[in-house]
Amino acid sequence: MSLLEPPQFASWADLEREALACTKCPLAETRTQVVFGVGDPHAGLLFVGEGPGEQEDLTGEPFVGRAGRLLTSLIEGIGLSRAEVYIANVVKCRPPGNRDPLADEIKACQSHLFRQIELIQPRAVVSLGNFATKLLSGSPVGITRVHGQQQNVRLGESEVLLYPIYHPAAALYTQAMLSVLEEDFRRLPELLGGKQTPTPVAIATPTPAQTGAEPAETAAVEETTQLGFF
Ligand code: URA
Repeated sequence: MSLLEPPQFASWADLEREALACTKCPLAETRTQVVFGVGDPHAGLLFVGEGPGEQEDLTGEPFVGRAGRLLTSLIEGIGLSRAEVYIANVVKCRPPGNRDPLADEIKACQSHLFRQIELIQPRAVVSLGNFATKLLSGSPVGITRVHGQQQNVRLGESEVLLYPIYHPAAALYTQAMLSVLEEDFRRLPELLGGKQTPTPVAIATPTPAQTGAEPAETAAVEETTQLGFF
């Protein structure tokens, strides 16, 4: 089943126009503006965060606050610029007070992200933190267990190499997390260059007791096994 609504989002311009005018969830009432994304819509590398914060809501650009500056320096550290990648979020409007996005808000917004992925066709999607990772992997397994482990996922019509890493905001406060984030980031060039065969994901078969998940959620975890993308 397609996760998308193709006639509505035929092209990038249609998608952006639709997203900028979106009123599908209550975040539309409190946002300053929709933060659609930034960068090259033909990029090989797509970063997906959680949702806009205050600075992003004011400027209309994702990852421009403190976490954004860290992300930018990590991107530059692997020889790329923000203009050469694409940066987007799970939800395109700021949750008030920077609270976590609610399940209904994610559901209302997710077709925008899925369609961005289909149109960009990146070589790799880097999910930053739990919200992006759980949405894109279709698995309840959290970032602590899956960071740094690439996996193949199918989103609508697209097969995508997903690479979960810690959210830069979390790494701002914990040196140990920052070190792990930096280490995971260093693997990105080789992942993009296709020099390495994806290794099996350690999370492949957690039991419901381990995850607290319903059986259906565990089945989704099992679907994230490697298919040898490169
Ligand atoms: N800024 C964003 O655009 N997204 C996040 O997830 C955090 C900060």
